[in-house]
Amino acid sequence: MEIVILPDAEAIGRLAADQICALLDRKPDAVLGLATGSSPLPTYDELVRRHDAGQVSFAGARAFTLDEYVGLAADHPERYLHVIERELTGRVDLDPSRVAGPDGLAADVPAACAAYEQAIADAGGVDLQILGIGTDGHIGFNEPGSSLASRTRIKTLTRQTRLDNARFFGDDLEAVPTHCLTQGLATIMSARHVVLVATGQGKAQAVHQLAEGAVSAMWPASVLQHHPHVSVLVDEAAASRLQLAGYYRETYLAKPSWQGL
Ligand code: GLP
Repeated sequence: MEIVILPDAEAIGRLAADQICALLDRKPDAVLGLATGSSPLPTYDELVRRHDAGQVSFAGARAFTLDEYVGLAADHPERYLHVIERELTGRVDLDPSRVAGPDGLAADVPAACAAYEQAIADAGGVDLQILGIGTDGHIGFNEPGSSLASRTRIKTLTRQTRLDNARFFGDDLEAVPTHCLTQGLATIMSARHVVLVATGQGKAQAVHQLAEGAVSAMWPASVLQHHPHVSVLVDEAAASRLQLAGYYRETYLAKPSWQGL
């Protein structure tokens, strides 16, 4: 796991976008894993800027989102498939038919979850997964207590996550769905490269646990310690509880430029 401490969200967005552009350059039909939430927005804005400047094309790519609320109407603006279209995929040359998410309106939930796993596998697996992290250490919607071996399934959201996300539902906690479908921790672990972005003091404890805590279902993101290729891009505030921050800074500064992330 490599921790990169950067001055601000824009610098994080540029470095994350660099990874996606380099991937699309060497593999135009790459499979991207996309996260919703506010953390990846600077990355997506940077990708759109580079797309508009003719520096990157998504035309051959495919994308899979991490998770979806259960039961939100097909036209609800907070359905994650709509959110990701507004934030990224609808702003670049990526055909909507090449973007998929778990079906939060499925009548047969286990079948829909299995179909989603199969679709990712049929696409060849995720090459690069962008991740945010919840204040309680969740990735996707894998709340504390999630099996480290979990695959796409239904989960109950914690009260904390619903409170955190109420801002997208007019600050009305009751309007936030109680359930979601989410890629499991093992699904996320199958991605070939994971790029996790986190900013702000509110994420400091989760980032510390992710990188330096014991691997535990209590901090689901800590499972990433078992992944061979994870890049964690954080600002100073999100890095503020890291015990080895000095070492991470030295390591990144001393890194040969050919090495990349
Ligand atoms: C939601 C999403 C996660 C995201 C998290 C953090 O719970 N399901 O994928 O990482 O929010 O969101 P934010 O980046 O807005 O803090």
